[in-house]
Formats: sequence, structure tokens, C-alpha cells
Amino acid sequence: GGWGLARQASSPGSTRTPSGGGTALTLPSELVSSGGVLRVELDAAPRTVTVGGERVTMLGYADHVPGPTLRLRPGDLLQIRLRNGLDEPTNLHVHGLHVSPEGNGDNPFVVIEPGQSFDYSYQLPPDHPAGTYWYHPHLHGTVADQVFGGLYGAIVVDEDEPLPVARERVLVVSDVSFDGAGNVRPASPQERMMGREGDLLLVNGQVAPVLEGRPGERERWRVVNACTSRYLRLVVDGQRFQLLGMDLDRSPIPEEVDEVVLTPGNRADLLVTLAEGTTTVRTRGYDRGGMGGMMSATSGPATLATLAASGDAVAEGGQLPQLPPSRDLRTGEVDRRRELTMEMGMGMGMRGRMMSFTIDGGEFDHERTDQQVAAGTIEEWTIRNTSTMDHPFHLHVWPMQVLEERGRAVKEPRWRDVVDVPAGGQVVVRIPFEGHTGRTVYHCHILDHEDLGMMGVIDVG
Ligand code: C2O
Ligand code: CU
Repeated sequence: GGWGLARQASSPGSTRTPSGGGTALTLPSELVSSGGVLRVELDAAPRTVTVGGERVTMLGYADHVPGPTLRLRPGDLLQIRLRNGLDEPTNLHVHGLHVSPEGNGDNPFVVIEPGQSFDYSYQLPPDHPAGTYWYHPHLHGTVADQVFGGLYGAIVVDEDEPLPVARERVLVVSDVSFDGAGNVRPASPQERMMGREGDLLLVNGQVAPVLEGRPGERERWRVVNACTSRYLRLVVDGQRFQLLGMDLDRSPIPEEVDEVVLTPGNRADLLVTLAEGTTTVRTRGYDRGGMGGMMSATSGPATLATLAASGDAVAEGGQLPQLPPSRDLRTGEVDRRRELTMEMGMGMGMRGRMMSFTIDGGEFDHERTDQQVAAGTIEEWTIRNTSTMDHPFHLHVWPMQVLEERGRAVKEPRWRDVVDVPAGGQVVVRIPFEGHTGRTVYHCHILDHEDLGMMGVIDVG
């Protein structure tokens, strides 16, 4: 088969104006695997797009931002030809996918020069967890600028049985700022240290879109936090919803919640049953900390979207399938325990910076191996944060089961690929280093911090 080039799908909602004003939500185009294979061509390049009614220049993998949603099944082969149409090097990371980090797989050490292309090949194991994942560039030093510029898209690994819902919405949340000429505004040195947050909050590249449905309809939302630094404390005003899971986990019994916190990189899988009328989907503020009273890093409250339900009420639909409980590593033996420390320092940064961002005292060095792990073992990691800001910790390839969060034992097994390490606090996780071997990275998912050096190298073999 040929390479599928992503084009914007025509969406019936995209051209008309909903009754209450605002623009109807558009879903990213979708590319779906067939016969166990999905071949995709992504073209990272500057793009002219419309955001909030203005023509602006962003970066995109296709002629729209976000890039196409890649829809897969466990056991599929995903082949991506990435062409670099940027004026600087780039590469690609399939965030959360449990695939090999070696060679043409999810290899964060690949460098694709401007004008060059690279053929990635990702073989999903047959027991790959269903869920919502995403892709974005991962070349150290350029990640935050490229993601903030618009390079991101969702990946969905479908279950065998679709859930009984009226509709499913992939909601890629990002933020961006523009200058007067419609170009993405570069971050100031202070914004890089605190983690930049954009002036505009986007859902699928749109400002405050309208999600329309009928009262009683149950929707599945796959929310991706593609913001480089912003934490999302998500609420639907006046409405509770069910949390199906986050990152790689699925709750056997979805929990009723009134808010969910997503760090940069996290995904939340939600069931929302629409109530009659119009309400707001928004993020409450989240205090990420700061630096000694001089600089603060707060994710401010903001509106994401409007949810409007009108017309005749419909019945909610069928029962959710009963899921088997997920693997539980919280009790039992571990082969090894280790401790990692995320740190911020004053006046010690390389290249004349006033602050340093390190893990275990070192800035990222692709030639150094920081953690050597025996393949097939289970380890327990205590990840400490001695600094005055939260840092979301992300490990590539191998999922982490959270044991202890904010000093408290977690009630159910939870599988994450990004876990918040609060300022002055710690998390404890257990990791089965199974399925794949090779060299890859772990880092802070405040992408400015990753670019400043808060990343380490792990080698499993
Ligand atoms: Cu989402 Cu190493 O990144
Ligand atoms: Cu950080």
C-alpha cells in the first residue's frame, strides 16, 4: 500500500455556527489501520492556519493542527515516514506506546536534518493496552519550541468492543501565543525556566469550540494534554463525569468525579452524559510552584469549550462492559529499588543560565547511561523532588504503576506514563521492565525543563 497523506476530513459540524454562537468543534482527521498495518506520512513544516478567526503561522504535521489521529489495534504495525520541512532538526516520539526504543522504533536519539526524512516502524505487541496516546517531536533542546509551535497529534489504540456511547471525541488540548504578525511568540528566558504557558488555550486547534449533542447522550472524551507546561484541572461546570482511566490504565468500575488533573503529557479517558442546556468545560487554576517568591508558575483558570445539549432527550445507552482488573504490582517482590531526585539549582546552569534543571545532579547527556536495568526485572523507584516547582515525571516505553502519590498509598492499581512529582514531595512507582530492551530516556514533561537538561538515559538489557 501507499503512504497515507493526512488531509483535513470534512466534518459536518465544521462549517456551520451552533445556535449559541462560537464554532462547532472539529475533530482531527483520522487514519485507521487496516489488515494490521497503518502507513502514514507526516510532514513537519510551517503551516498557515486559522486560529480564533485569525490567519497565523504554526508548525504542523499536515495542513491542520493537531496532526491526524492515528487509530490502531493491539498487534498492529505502525509505519511513519517523517519528513522534516522545518529549518532545524527534529524527530518523533510515540508517547506512551509500549514499543521498542531501538533502531527505527521509538528512538529518541534519532536526528532528522532539515530536508531529510526518516522511516519509523513501530510494532505493537498483541497485548498492547487499549487507550489514548500521542505523538510529538523529541529532539533535546528543541522539543518545547516545536510542540508549542503545533507539532502534536493523538494515537488511539482501540478495544475489541467499542463502548456503548453516542459519540467519541478526541480532544487535543494545547496552548500557544502569537505576536502581532501572527507568528508563534518565542519564550523568554524566564518563561523557559518556569515553563511557558500560551495566551490561547486550544482544543483541536480551535479557541473555545462548541460541543453539541442531545440531553442524555453519553459521550466518550479522549483528552490529551499537549500543552508544554500547563496543568489542566478539568471540570465540566455543574456536571460530574466518569473517569474511565488515565494514560494506560482502565478502571474496571469507572469512578464518578467532578474534576480530573492532567499534567503535561497525561491523557484522560472520560464518559460524559450530557445534561440539558449549555455549560462550560474549563480548567480551574493549578499552582505549579515557582522560584523563591521571585517567579511563580501558575496554570491559570481558562475556558476550553462550551457543551450544549438541546433537542429531545435520549436514553443513555447500554451497559459498559465489565473489565478484568488490571495487573497489580503493589504487593509482591521487587528485584531492585532505586531513588531518583529531580532538582533545580541557582547559578549553576550550563551555558551561563541562572538556574539548572537536573536529575540526580546531572543535565542530560546522550552519551551517558544514568540507569542500567536488567531486562525482565521489576523495580521500585522513589522519585523525589527537592525543588519548589512540580515536575511531571515521564518514562518512555515501560509503564509505571503508582504506589504512592503525594505521600499517600494509592487505592487501586494505576498505570501511568507521566506522574506528577509535587514540589518538595515524592512518588513511588513500580515498573516491570518487560517486553522490550534498549536505550531510551526519562524526563520532566514540562518540555522547557526537558530542553534545559532535566532528562536522563536508561538502558534496559
Ligand atoms: Cu511526551 Cu519523552 O515525551
Ligand atoms: Cu520540570
